[in-house]
Amino acid sequence: MSQDNNKLELILASTSPFRQSLLIEAGINFKAVAPNCNEDDLKNPNWNAITLTQNLAREKAKSLLSSYPNAFIIGSDQVLNYEGQIFGKPKTKENAFIQLKTINGKVHELITSVYICGPNKNEFIYTDITKLEMNDLSDDELKFYIEIDNPITSAGSYKIEKAGIQLFKTIKSDDHSSIQGLPMLAVLNQLNMWGITIKQRSIHKSKLFESALKVQKNAYSPYSKAKVASAILWEDNSITSGCNIENSSYGATVCAERVAIWSGLSKNPNQKIKEVLVLTDANPPWPPCGMCRQVISEFITQKAVVHITNTTGTWITKSWDELFPMSFEKSHLI
Ligand code: THU
Repeated sequence: MSQDNNKLELILASTSPFRQSLLIEAGINFKAVAPNCNEDDLKNPNWNAITLTQNLAREKAKSLLSSYPNAFIIGSDQVLNYEGQIFGKPKTKENAFIQLKTINGKVHELITSVYICGPNKNEFIYTDITKLEMNDLSDDELKFYIEIDNPITSAGSYKIEKAGIQLFKTIKSDDHSSIQGLPMLAVLNQLNMWGITIKQRSIHKSKLFESALKVQKNAYSPYSKAKVASAILWEDNSITSGCNIENSSYGATVCAERVAIWSGLSKNPNQKIKEVLVLTDANPPWPPCGMCRQVISEFITQKAVVHITNTTGTWITKSWDELFPMSFEKSHLI
């Protein structure tokens, strides 16, 4: 379809870390924005699960239309349906226990709707119904599970991508990602139909790489001899880059990541980091050091990704959660 669709931004009208992580893990370039509506005010008790989730998915996306008139906006909503009883997010551990106790040993449906709108009146709506059969667990086991995953923000009171998988006997779904709140196959196939292909919707790895490569030669590293460069993708899709600058005291050395971050923040102090790239000549490539991680964590969006690469093309992409417990080890120094 229209070539112009390729240049348009993709907005996820949700702050759900589960939905965001589905898009991040799939390597998709998007921006997560909180919908500008109050879900509870919109709900009508006469709606069934399908109508409810479709209406909420639509309202969430449309609430951002005036702020993002030239973007594709994805709204999504999910509830659990057990024999006509509809459950949303439990919000407390006590409610989570009540929800799990109700579906314990039984089959329930997870109803997940997605709505996408775009410029030129493009519209798409889809509902996935996944059937899950839960094992029969004791009260003690259910409480134990709630302590492990704390599933108070998940419709149905389980996190399927975490320990929640241990609760189930069978799962029947056309699109397993919808259990995490977003039917990814429907979304991606629809974007394809609108001309937003894998090349256009993927993250800007190559752009970040080019920006870092440009400044790598400027590294001032007579003491370590390591030339490190970094590029940061900010929420407004601007990129800043930097290289490491050493000093004879060495302790005053500033890593490439921090130089790139200071540069972005001094242009716009109110923005957050979406992606970080660190480029070295080392094999395996170096992850950000402990001090940089500390700094990155202060300015990063909740679910940003970090690309670690060397000039010979070894790439490691990590989510922030994966990276944070790792330390910058002696073996990484040359
Ligand atoms: N360095 C970076 O620029 N980023 C990192 O994440 C790790 C280390 C620099 C600092 C110093 O100039 C050299 O690499 C060796 O530690």
